[in-house]
Amino acid sequence: MSGFSAQWLALREPYDAKARDKSVLDAVAAAFRGQPSVSVVDLACGTGATVRALEPRLPERQVWRLVDNNLSLLAEAAALGRPPNRTVSAQPVDLARDLEAPLDGPVHLVTTSALLDLVSAEWLDRLALEAAARRLPVYAALTYQGRASLEPAEPFDLEVIAAVNRHQRRDKGFGPALGPEAGRHAVRSFERVGYHVLPGASDWVFGRQDREIQLQLLAGWAVAATELGDLPPHAIATWLAERRNLVVAGQSSMRVDHVDLFATPIASR
Ligand SMILES: C[S@@+](CC[C@H](N)C(=O)[O-])C[C@H]1O[C@@H](n2cnc3c(N)ncnc32)[C@H](O)[C@@H]1O
Repeated sequence: MSGFSAQWLALREPYDAKARDKSVLDAVAAAFRGQPSVSVVDLACGTGATVRALEPRLPERQVWRLVDNNLSLLAEAAALGRPPNRTVSAQPVDLARDLEAPLDGPVHLVTTSALLDLVSAEWLDRLALEAAARRLPVYAALTYQGRASLEPAEPFDLEVIAAVNRHQRRDKGFGPALGPEAGRHAVRSFERVGYHVLPGASDWVFGRQDREIQLQLLAGWAVAATELGDLPPHAIATWLAERRNLVVAGQSSMRVDHVDLFATPIASR
């Protein structure tokens, strides 16, 4: 599993789409219902998963500004076919350095998905401040929450997940990452600058038939745990081999906790 490869993003997108919290999506839709058009900036867009998740719920006329620092993902997102009433532009930006420029100009909504657990507390506070300065609502989906359950459970699962969570706190380009703390921190950051925050659970649920995503995720966890160096590599390798056997035999299922939120400025615009 590579966090940002197009293959991994394509594999996870249907599970993400199913996981996105419906009441949070409904609240985003309701905020723009009846408006003739909406301009959205999607931060760390990858190949455009948030566009695909949101566009059926927003007003017919949509202007999307897609922002990422990965040029090949950005090109893939920008090249997607769009109905006549959608305008999509791609903006290569290192969001760790420049958050303000993508938010400037005619924007009604900020979106992001699977980003907040990568960023630092300082960066997330800055996002909340910059959004508040522009009175922009923010939809942030699929933030990893640090909890996962595997069936059938193995004693070593918890040790690997704890190691993955420690690895999640490493710098991902934005300073020390919030990892599993990101969802809670986001609520505090936005509330502090006068936002109402609607959270909703968006857990990944992988059934026994969902073999490929489980195999990729488990392999990614094993790499992360090994990189960290806290657990014996042979124990991680044995754990991975056993878990893979369960997946291949159609005996493994998983739940990985995520959270979505829709943050809106409390005072009217
Ligand atoms: C886990 S992917 C999520 C992609 C997409 N939002 C989705 O849900 O499929 C994280 C995204 O953050 C982008 N990213 C990471 N660091 C970044 C940075 N410093 N500036 C801009 N984008 C960044 C990656 O290129 C990647 O597209």
